[in-house]
Amino acid sequence: MVKAGKPLPEQALEFVPSNHILVVLGASGGIGQPLSLLLKACPEVDELSLYDVVGTPGVAADLSHISSVAKITGYLPPDDGLKKALTGADIVVIPAGIPRKPGMTRDDLFKINAGIVRDLVTGIAETCPKAFILVISNPVNSTVPIAAEVMKKAGKFDPKRLFGVTTLDVVRAETFVQEHTGEKDPSKTVIPVIGGHSGETIVPLFSLAKPAVKIPTDKLAPLVKRVQFGGDEVVEAKGGAGSATLSMAYAGYRFAEKLIRATKGEKGIVEPTYVYLPGVTGGDAIAKETGVDYFSVPVELGPSGAEKANNILPEINDDEKKLLEACKTGLKGNIEKGVDFVHNPP
Ligand code: NAD
Ligand code: LMR
Repeated sequence: MVKAGKPLPEQALEFVPSNHILVVLGASGGIGQPLSLLLKACPEVDELSLYDVVGTPGVAADLSHISSVAKITGYLPPDDGLKKALTGADIVVIPAGIPRKPGMTRDDLFKINAGIVRDLVTGIAETCPKAFILVISNPVNSTVPIAAEVMKKAGKFDPKRLFGVTTLDVVRAETFVQEHTGEKDPSKTVIPVIGGHSGETIVPLFSLAKPAVKIPTDKLAPLVKRVQFGGDEVVEAKGGAGSATLSMAYAGYRFAEKLIRATKGEKGIVEPTYVYLPGVTGGDAIAKETGVDYFSVPVELGPSGAEKANNILPEINDDEKKLLEACKTGLKGNIEKGVDFVHNPP
């Protein structure tokens, strides 16, 4: 039972041992709330712990009335709230931080979000270093390297357990290509999207669609651009009220739910995600080919997390190779900026 606006009861800390304690950091936000709703409704989630700098008692109280399995608790910063929220966590999802307004790039968010992610991941390193960490906060191209460097500094980094959530790009590619597939359910078309998560660093590979898709030549470049800049579409439409939240909650849930199933032993679960390549089986070859250490590729998920990075680069066509070149240049700078932030704080 959760009481709105009051400190949560101490027994909230006594987690029953389980493999499915999920934590959402930034749980009161535009993404955090619908994502928490989806996780609360997921039968695989035993406990759901919500943390934010505002609003979590209310969000937790509201969600606690839903008659699903997950036991729900909410925490604020006072009285070691972050530590309490993270205690016993198996999976931590991070949508904390400010979103874009029209005219901004994701990199413009770095100034504020870099510090937020660093501090939250420091809490993870201290309290639940073995948890799987799913980073949603932008700029993902930089916040994931920040998370990795924080974990490395603490001597707790396991690259198989750190994921940049790029699923929204995959979801957009599936949705936007539908007009060329005739498929009633867009999620039935598998489109790998690789690279990073901003503009030209997003590389959708329509040539590798399964089942194959025939896209008229004059329609391909606009389709690729729409996936790369899909976030801008939502930012513009919201007119200053933020960026994608509902589609992101869906995408974040989709990735988290696949990871839960994979950790339970289900085989054959593959999803593109932004990982530290040198730490994942198969990643070295991709790092060598791209010249970057962080990159999104289809990753086989399993009980230990990112079990294998699938190198699909040899299969891409000449147009996609050109996209990849622009991607690499953008990514390099974003990654260096994240790494540098941890070692030479401003
Ligand atoms: P929002 O402003 O609605 O919510 C963010 C929440 O984070 C707020 O509730 C805020 O109180 C909380 N917060 C701020 N500092 C915090 C801290 N130190 N600890 C805990 N919580 C804190 O924003 P949103 O629309 O939910 O977006 C959140 C982030 O997700 C943004 O950076 C956005 O760019 C990013 N995003 C990423 C993707 C993706 O594909 N990876 C997609 C959409 C949005
Ligand atoms: C998105 O792709 O929708 C998110 O990264 C949010 C944004 O800033 O566009």
